[in-house]
Order: sequence, then C-alpha cells, then structure tokens
Amino acid sequence: MNQKTILTGITTTGRPHLGNYAGAIRPAIKASFEQGLQSFYFLADYHSLVKNKDPKEVKKSCMEVAATWLALGLDTKKTYFYRQSDIPEIPELMWILSTFTAKGLMNRAHAYKSVVQLNEESGGSESDKGISMALFSYPILMAADILMFKATDVPVGQDQKQHMEMVRDVAQRFNHHYGDIFVVPKAIIAKASAILPGLDGRKMSKSYNNSIPLFLGSNELRKLIMKIKTNSLEPGEPKSTEACTLFDIYHAISKPEESLLFKEQLEQGMAWGAAKEELFVYIEDLFSGPKEEYLKLIDDQTYIESVLSAGAEKARDLSSSYLKKIKTVVGIGSLV
Ligand code: TRP
Repeated sequence: MNQKTILTGITTTGRPHLGNYAGAIRPAIKASFEQGLQSFYFLADYHSLVKNKDPKEVKKSCMEVAATWLALGLDTKKTYFYRQSDIPEIPELMWILSTFTAKGLMNRAHAYKSVVQLNEESGGSESDKGISMALFSYPILMAADILMFKATDVPVGQDQKQHMEMVRDVAQRFNHHYGDIFVVPKAIIAKASAILPGLDGRKMSKSYNNSIPLFLGSNELRKLIMKIKTNSLEPGEPKSTEACTLFDIYHAISKPEESLLFKEQLEQGMAWGAAKEELFVYIEDLFSGPKEEYLKLIDDQTYIESVLSAGAEKARDLSSSYLKKIKTVVGIGSLV
C-alpha cells in the first residue's frame, strides 16, 4: 500500500478564522485536487463534546464549519467529507484500540497533563479535578479517526504532534500482536511560518480572542483590521516587515508578487492606516465570492445535511468492511 492518503479532523468549535484558512483549509482543498491521492476531511464533533456542552453551539459550529469548507470550494466528489459522529465504526474502533493503549502513555499527554498541573498549582487535593475520561482518552478517539481510513499523512498543528506519536504507538502495538492490520500514519506538521498571527501578534486562535473570522460583514471586518497591533512609526517613515503582524497576514493570503508590492510600499513609508485599508480591501475582494456562497449555504441546512449524509455513506463503505475485518482479527463477532 503506497498510495498517499491524507486525513485530518476539524474540531467543531466556533467559526473558522483566517488562520484556519491559511494554515489548514486552503492547503487541504488544494491537496484534494491532486492526482493520485485520496483525502479525508471530517468534522470532529465527538471531539468537540469534550469541551462544549451546549447542544445548540455544537450543532451551530458543525453547520458553520461545513458551510465554510464548501463555500471555499471543497469538491466533495473528489474527497471524503463527513461528520465523525455519522461513522459509528469510529467509536467502536476506539474501544478496540483502547485495549492497546497504555494508560501510562495517556498520562503523558500534554492536554491532560496541563490540567493536572493547573490543579496541583492551585493547591487543591484532587489533581484530576474537572478532567473527564473523554479528555483523558482524546488521543485514542483520534487514533480511531485516523486508522479507520488507513491515512498515511495527517496534517496537524504543532500542538497535535504528541497525539500523533501516540497514534503511531497504538497502531504499532496492535500490529505487533495481530500482524499488519493498520497503516502507521505520519504527522505533517505545519511550518512555523504557516502560523498566522492574530490581532495582537500572538498566534491567531479562538482561545486568545484575537482572530479574524471568515466572512464577516464589511463594518465588522474593518473594525477588526483597524485593531491589528502596529508600532508608532509615522506616515512617511519606512516600515520593516520583520515581525509585522499586518504584513504577515497580508503575506499569508496574497500572491507572492502582491505581497512583494505591499512590502515595498511599507518600506517606502506607507502609513499604517493606509496599509490596514489595503489589507481590508484585499480580504473583502478575496472572499467576496465565497462569502456570498457561505451566506447562501448557512441558511440551507437541508443541503448541508444532504452533503454530509452522502459523505458519510461514502466513508462507511470503507469503514464498515474494514471494521468487520478488524473485529474478525481480534475474535469478536459471529460464531459461524
Ligand atoms: N485533535 C485535532 C485538533 O484539535 C482534531 C482532530 C480530531 C484530528 N481527530 C483528528 C486531527 C484526526 C487529525 C486527525 O486539531
């Protein structure tokens, strides 16, 4: 098996932003058009339950994420696009995998450890306070997502690197016992240069509240862009593009020649206000088509649902037969 299979999960929390676009959505859509490659992109809604206990929010985010990917041009005929919870084989596989997952390995997961550490620092008596089994076993569900579809390449953020090592470990332990059943995937970690800074210069992230959501109304978008942190250089003074958030954002979404021109203008002393205006116009233009599409889709739940159902059906063609094989291998199932 040497076909390249890309797979990645999108946690459905909130609405996608420009950082998600540049770092994940755009490259994923581009890859889905590559010849000789299979791709799987799914809404990790079971993962979102770890944090989000508001059913309305859980649904809304699924809808927004799906509408965003479709509006930005994902061709669902060329790729597998589905909702994790529509594939019951995934949680089934998770159980089987959990029998091969060392608890000690999970103890070392950063996401879990950091909560334990917070609890210990706050001097409480219970170091596992507020930690659900779902948070603890998060990487096992991720392993099931990935191994279910024989992914070879998994694009993830730097924060998921350790989870990916755990996935490999679980797959290898299983294979060691039963033979070559799982494809051991590798993580494709985005380069640091692909990480977009947010309004305040830190990594653009919902949790820092510094992001520029996609498809905003013009006024909202302008307001946010005007908030981007710059220095106090006056109009006419040359401005460097080193560690310049405004430039980094422009650079990440524009063509090389456009970015070069923007750089020259800044070096020649363009005022920050004018530069922000330019970025604003650029974003408005870039997303005007997709925004119209998004606004149409977001009101058409029936359509989105039909796309996701069709995606699930296609994905289950693979997952149901593969899970059957895995169950047979471990000795679960029909006696005859
Ligand atoms: N945990 C990933 C994140 O937060 C999302 C995710 C869930 C995922 N399942 C996955 C990513 C499988 C890659 C493969 O970014």
